Amino acid sequence: EKDGHDWFMRKEIYEQPRAVANSLLGRRAADGQLHLDEMRLSDQDLRDIDKIIIIAAGTSFYAGMVAKYAIEHWCRIPVEVELASEFRYRDPILKHSTLVVAISQSGETADTLQAIRHARVQKSKVLAICNTNGSTIPRESDGVIYTHAGPEIGVASTKGFLTQLVACYLLALYLAQVKGTRFGDEIAQVMDQLDKMPAHIRAVLDQAEEIYALAREHVDSRSVLFLGRHAGYPVALEGALKLKELAYIHAEGFAAGELKHGPIALIEDGLPVLCVVPPRGRDFLHDKMVSGIQEVRARGARTICLAEEGDTSIEPYADVLIPLPSVPVLLQPMVAVVPLQLFACELATAMGHDVDQPRNLAKSVTVE
Ligand code: M6R
Repeated sequence: EKDGHDWFMRKEIYEQPRAVANSLLGRRAADGQLHLDEMRLSDQDLRDIDKIIIIAAGTSFYAGMVAKYAIEHWCRIPVEVELASEFRYRDPILKHSTLVVAISQSGETADTLQAIRHARVQKSKVLAICNTNGSTIPRESDGVIYTHAGPEIGVASTKGFLTQLVACYLLALYLAQVKGTRFGDEIAQVMDQLDKMPAHIRAVLDQAEEIYALAREHVDSRSVLFLGRHAGYPVALEGALKLKELAYIHAEGFAAGELKHGPIALIEDGLPVLCVVPPRGRDFLHDKMVSGIQEVRARGARTICLAEEGDTSIEPYADVLIPLPSVPVLLQPMVAVVPLQLFACELATAMGHDVDQPRNLAKSVTVE
């Protein structure tokens, strides 16, 4: 049942090219228009929306953070992303024209469920992004985008996350289509780029042995930091979460621009810092990231850099370089997170932990 893998998590990591392809299947009609089967919100409902609030927990929250970059850039609708547990108890301001998007792999997370119930009482429209057909969250929502990843058994979310990203991009593109934003002409182009993702993810998986060897070098690490910026920031947070939950190692993700505001004080000799380098297309982001890496390395960090293949500018500052396929910055999380999943899975395995059932954790958190 694990297809020859030692863990469900590893199996699910390897299933990601297929899961992403399934998630994209049948979304484009012959006329090139996007169709989301169970959207159920009318075009008029969607045109009336002037604000989006994304609520989720854990890894799903990080997918929501990526969604914010995509929706704001492509659709010019303001997006807030909030932890479901915080949202529910702060008396949020919700209007008829606010769309609440709940992201949940299981569809049963209590905090997220309570949050959407609250939103519906306030008359906001609720759209679920969910992997589990017929689960409670989509049942209680106005519409749903199913992620079609297939069942996720490992407690650590992997293919669930990648397919949530797909659903978030689809939602963003769909809103752009319905609202007729300036970006409309590029929808087909982004869909073509998304169609190439399974092959790109496969290319990353082909480097698994190198990443495993790297992970095994870190069994004695007491702390690992992750840096990213823009869409790479949630990837850094997700990389750190994976390491915490599976290897029980102290791990933190930071926005690289925040380094000087505190975290750089943590850097000491030999501290592993995994850095998600934005692709070169957006030079201002890329160059700022490179200078952040330079700074942590000058203070003794061991820099493990995930960077677009052929990006030679990073070579002088990278103790280890993991090449990523060349993709636009907004889509980069889909390829950048994969080495971090492999890293955490292998490191936890080498430490002798139960990767599928980490201590103190449950697959779905049905109590608040
Ligand atoms: O089922 P959900 O997506 O609502 O679950 C949210 C979190 O509990 C979940 O992502 C959790 O953080 C995972 N263990 C992360 O790997």
